[in-house]
Amino acid sequence: MKGKDLLSIVDLNSEDISLLISRAVELKAEGWAHSLSEKVLALVFEKPSLRTRVSFEVAMRQLGGHTIHLSPAEVGLGKRESVPDVARVLSRYVDAIAVRTFSHETLEVLAQYADVPVINALSDLEHPCQALADLLTIYERKGELEGLTLAYVGDGNNVAHSLMLASALAGISFRIASPAGYQVRDDLLRLARGYAMERGAEILCTEDPRQAVHGADVVYTDVWTSMGQESESEKRRRAFAGYQINDELLSLAEEDAILMHPLPAHRGEEVAEGVLDSPQSVVFDQAENRMHLQKALLADMLGGLEMPFMKYE
Ligand code: CP
Ligand code: NVA
Repeated sequence: MKGKDLLSIVDLNSEDISLLISRAVELKAEGWAHSLSEKVLALVFEKPSLRTRVSFEVAMRQLGGHTIHLSPAEVGLGKRESVPDVARVLSRYVDAIAVRTFSHETLEVLAQYADVPVINALSDLEHPCQALADLLTIYERKGELEGLTLAYVGDGNNVAHSLMLASALAGISFRIASPAGYQVRDDLLRLARGYAMERGAEILCTEDPRQAVHGADVVYTDVWTSMGQESESEKRRRAFAGYQINDELLSLAEEDAILMHPLPAHRGEEVAEGVLDSPQSVVFDQAENRMHLQKALLADMLGGLEMPFMKYE
C-alpha cells in the first residue's frame, strides 16, 4: 500500500487484506513503535464523525505522527476553493489525506490531484476502513474468515458496499436482505460475485431478512437513514419496517453468531432496544478495532512498519 490511495476496498486484494489484519492483530497485542515520527495526516471531513476522526487521530499519535482536522466550514471543499486546488495545496504540507465526503466523486477528484495518499474515511458509496475493522473483529471472534457466512440486513448503503466486497475478497459468503429500491448497486454486486467465486464463496441478494439470517455466523446491520439522507427518514422508516434486527430474527442465525453494527446506531429502528447490549453484540470491539486496523494501514501506507508478520490463514 506504500504511497497508494484507499478509495474503495477493492484498491486492496485478498493478500493485502490478510496482511493488514495480521499486522493489526500484532499491533494490538504487542504494541507499536514511533514509526511515523513527524508524519502528518490531514482529516478533511464534510460530515460529522466520532469513531473515524478519533481513531485516526489516536492511531497517528500512537505512531508518533500528527493530524490536522479540517471541518467543512474551514476548507469549504469545492465552495471556498476548488477540490483540485485543495488537493494540490494539502499535498505540499501533509503526508496523507483522509477524506469524508458526501459524493464519492469529490474523493476521486481529490485523489486525482493529490500527490500524497488519499484515504476514504466514508463517502456515499463506500466505507472501506470500516469494512477492514469489521473483518479484523470477525477474525478475532471466529479465528478465521474464509468459509463463514455474513448476513447484512438493511440499507444497501456505503457500509454494505464495502462490506460485501471485503467479504468476497476474504472468502466470506455474504447475504444481504434489503427492501426493493434500497438494494446494493448492481455493478458492485456483480464485482463482488466475481471475487466471491474466486474464493469459493457466494453472494445472495434478497428482500427476505429471514432467508439472509438463517444459519449465519455474523449478523450485521447499519442505520436506515445515512448522513445526508435525513429528509427521507420517514419514508425510509416505512420502507424498512420488517428489517429490524430483534431477538426473533437473531434466533435464526447460528447459536454462536455475533451481531455487528458500525455505529452510531438508532436503537428501536434497525436494532431492537437492548439487542446491541446483548452478549452476542461485538459493536464496541468493532469500534476499537477501527484504531488498530488504521494503525496498520497508516504504517503501511506511509512506510513505517517494520515488524514480523503473522498470516491469519
Ligand atoms: N462507524 C463510523 O464511521 O463512525 P463515525 O461516523 O462516528 O466516524
Ligand atoms: N451508513 C452510515 C454509516 C455511518 C458510519 C452513514 O453513511 O451515515
